Amino acid sequence: MKVYDNVLEMIGNTPLVKVNNIDTGPCDLYLKLELQNPGGSIKDRIAVEMINAAERDGKLKPGDTIIEATAGNTGLGLALVAASKGYPLMIVMPDKMSQEKVNNLRAMGATVKQTRSDVQKGHPEYYQDMAARLAEENGWFYVNQFENPANVEAHYKSTGPEIWQQTNGEIDAFVCGVGSGGTLTGIGRYLREQKSDVDLVLADPAGSILEPLVNRGEHVEAGSWLAEGIGEDFVPKICEIELANKAYAISDKEGMQMARQVLEKEGVMVGSSSGTLIAAAVRYCQDQTEKKQVVTLACDTGNRYLSKLFNDEWMRENNLL
Ligand SMILES: Cc1ncc(COP(=O)(O)O)c(C=O)c1O
Repeated sequence: MKVYDNVLEMIGNTPLVKVNNIDTGPCDLYLKLELQNPGGSIKDRIAVEMINAAERDGKLKPGDTIIEATAGNTGLGLALVAASKGYPLMIVMPDKMSQEKVNNLRAMGATVKQTRSDVQKGHPEYYQDMAARLAEENGWFYVNQFENPANVEAHYKSTGPEIWQQTNGEIDAFVCGVGSGGTLTGIGRYLREQKSDVDLVLADPAGSILEPLVNRGEHVEAGSWLAEGIGEDFVPKICEIELANKAYAISDKEGMQMARQVLEKEGVMVGSSSGTLIAAAVRYCQDQTEKKQVVTLACDTGNRYLSKLFNDEWMRENNLL
């Protein structure tokens, strides 16, 4: 029997499962079940890596308060680490994020401050600017996943190699979104080093600035979208967006309906960002003329969205049904 010494050791080594009952054209599509991490999302991986790096570099000392700007999942990953290592944790989150995430964070002992979702970088109430300011004013350690190289490193060291090994190096395309850019940059860089012609495909919520940038080199104004954790109004510092050689803009309706379909047809309960990723992956698969092996991520658990995408009333109110 395998016994883990603590919950942090259980992070990573997530399974890869084939999509069977959704039309993927001539391709095989696989989901990497990041929702099986103990904190319920892919962000557990970066939480441990970023805290270990900060301790190693002397930026974080016993008793210090940790603060992070997050759509919620990085906060939940950090809450696991903070609980096991005894750091107080402060989370700054845009107010569009699900109440389940807020409740979950508070239950884990984090202090949660919600701020406006309708402002962009540079505004004092933008979640990242607010976290940076609170850190500065109070002498807290701001993790800053958007500029922290340990975010990329976590995926370069673990997620990328796992995908390569699980596919026996036969992967043709990897589809992911960008929130901080950690997954695209870390996994993308690793996969390209193994196989230079692997397709790196960006799944972007319609309204984000990234799809126009990747596909047409266009700089557009950001709109708004409901998918949580992906899509951007700027290119984060750690994000090597040039790695993506193709992008799909996915509407909230298409992404959320795909998340529902994945539960109904495949028995995997994913959140709104994964719905966006899988919708883009399915489109990529259907666009191919020959068989390809395609991998995307089931980034977080759909349990976090019972009041939203799995709630008919909320879906109807937002014209998503
Ligand atoms: C909830 C959530 N946040 C963020 C991301 C994006 O990851 P990253 O911050 O590494 O770009 C994802 C998945 O793609 C996600 O599901």
